[in-house]
Amino acid sequence: MAVRAVATAPLIALLVTSGQQPVPPAVRYEQHVFAGGAAPPAETLENPFKGDRRSAADGEKLFSAFNCDGCHSLGATGGEGPSLADGRWRYGGADGAIFHSIYYGRPRGMPAFGGVLPPDAIWKLVTYLQGLTPAVDPATVAW
Ligand code: HEC
Repeated sequence: MAVRAVATAPLIALLVTSGQQPVPPAVRYEQHVFAGGAAPPAETLENPFKGDRRSAADGEKLFSAFNCDGCHSLGATGGEGPSLADGRWRYGGADGAIFHSIYYGRPRGMPAFGGVLPPDAIWKLVTYLQGLTPAVDPATVAW
């Protein structure tokens, strides 16, 4: 019993710690229409690791470790979940929009990871995804 408690302690500590993280602020989606021209109170979240190669490499590891590739495929090219590498975004490709997709999940099958991943880890995933280059589709190449 004592051994078991020791073995699970780090995991519980991780979950408790991430549960106590401050809630990220609401994101303003600039492409939305604001009634009366008045934007609701919200912030524009910016990726603190933008363009940082080491963070992108960490994000790539997290992408496998947390089974993102189980749904989005290796290289995030799309499977059960949509491609995250083709430069097209259902919920927006701005820093805060991608962060919110991962932190809060999305209604049609995207789990919310904000309860198990601290914000830094989510930003590393965002950095990895933003660094992916869309594959050239031969059907749409001009001739
Ligand atoms: C159980 C399958 C599953 C897992 C695991 C999963 N996703 Fe998803 N994800 C989806 C589906 C399905 C959608 C589309 C949701 C929708 O359209 O409402 C999605 C949507 C997204 C989006 C929004 C895409 C857009 O076009 O706006 C992002 C970003 C994303 N996932 C990142 C991740 C990351 C990072 C992980 C791992 C931490 C992950 N996903 C794990 C299934 C999954």
